[in-house]
Amino acid sequence: MKIERLPPVRTSLGHTNHPYMTGAWTPLHEEVNAWDLEVLEGEIPADLDGVYLRNTENPVHAPLGRYHPFDGDGMIHQIEFRAGTAAYRNRFVRTRGFEAEQEAGESLWGGLADGPGTSKRPGFGAHGSLKDTASTDIVVHAGEAIATFYQCGEAYRLDPLTLENLGVAAWAPLDGVSAHPKVDEETGELLFFNYSKHAPYMHYGVVDATGKRTVYQAIDLPGPRLPHDMAFTKNWSILNDLPVFWDQTLLDRDIHAVRLHKGVPSRFGLVPRHGGEVKWFEAAPTYVLHWLNAYEEGDEVVLDGYFQENPTPRPLEDAPEGHGHLMAYLDEHSFRPKLHRWRFNLVTGETTEAHLDDRILEFGMFNQQIAGKPYRYAYSTTAKPGWFLFNGFVKHDLETGESWSIQLPEGRYASEAPFAPRVGAVDEDDGYLVSFIIDENRGTSECLIVDAKRFETVCRLALPHKLSSGTHSVWAGRERLRA
Ligand SMILES: [Fe+2]
Repeated sequence: MKIERLPPVRTSLGHTNHPYMTGAWTPLHEEVNAWDLEVLEGEIPADLDGVYLRNTENPVHAPLGRYHPFDGDGMIHQIEFRAGTAAYRNRFVRTRGFEAEQEAGESLWGGLADGPGTSKRPGFGAHGSLKDTASTDIVVHAGEAIATFYQCGEAYRLDPLTLENLGVAAWAPLDGVSAHPKVDEETGELLFFNYSKHAPYMHYGVVDATGKRTVYQAIDLPGPRLPHDMAFTKNWSILNDLPVFWDQTLLDRDIHAVRLHKGVPSRFGLVPRHGGEVKWFEAAPTYVLHWLNAYEEGDEVVLDGYFQENPTPRPLEDAPEGHGHLMAYLDEHSFRPKLHRWRFNLVTGETTEAHLDDRILEFGMFNQQIAGKPYRYAYSTTAKPGWFLFNGFVKHDLETGESWSIQLPEGRYASEAPFAPRVGAVDEDDGYLVSFIIDENRGTSECLIVDAKRFETVCRLALPHKLSSGTHSVWAGRERLRA
């Protein structure tokens, strides 16, 4: 493997025992370009052509208060496959906050777990006191990678091939863009939403295939809400108003405490794709971090996602001192997300819903070429009990109910693994899952390639350094990248 290291970033982070700044969450500060990655097992599929992009959270300065892993600075890791070869590179997202703290040599913003008054400067997004780290999500739209922040931020653009930082998206509105904008690969459109603490509390927008914002519509909500993800079908975008949101009494004192509001249903807003009157549907109370696909079937709109059975868990009992609350909210085995299907009947206005599986699963992926259309295969991740760490994958055949699992050995943790269609694919599951592995036993990282049809590993490649864990990722085939 050939490695080129970039000049180091300025860091003031000292020793820590924080459970989410150590082990598989140890921040990485090094930026590199690497070629000729060593093949550890199998061979690189010659019909894998494009890039896998992964966003991770890497704090570079000592926190002002209580660190939460979603406060870390965004870093994009990329592996590019072409004609049976692989190259890797990684870069921090040079957000305004990152640059300001590089200049200051210290943290300027407090984090999600901090009380009011911690930040030294006004913050961004819905919360208002946080740094826009662009560290949550990543998509590829109009030939550019777009890194986004879950509390709504400016939407940072990068070249998906070189990872050159290209600045903020001109189409991002003043209230920002939430994580999980959606790209319809067929129309080339990007669909997004934002949320805030001021009326109307939510907006929906569309950016066309050339990068021009064509729709920006207010979505009236009863108050501030915390939506995290959206979905779409051919004719509808699906937004949500779920009963897990900030306690208004505490919010009046600038304290951001999340509560399950008992007796309040979940609400789903179906917005015509290009704007118009919202059709609202009610459903059982829950919180949902992530959706899978959605599609239209007769009079119904079908939505799949992960229904949390216990969205506001009690503090984790065996967590390190003082971290019980934070760790419970990061532990899937505490909030118990289950693969779930909602059906919204456009004629009767009724919702029907049911679990599709009783296992604890989240961070689902599917073939994005059929996003918004009927689909058959879903790929979920499993999590290590007590931790925000992925330890395996489950493939579902949603038609037959059959499923297949891959369990990683103890100490090996995966990243979200999007589906990468094989060049010339015919079937929906004709392709690969691509993931980065953190091996805590060896102190290394690898790229793992799984054949999605046979659901078995076909290749493992060495990466030049050990990554930190993080949240989201994306696959973009060659045809979706800049020339
Ligand atoms: Fe997310």
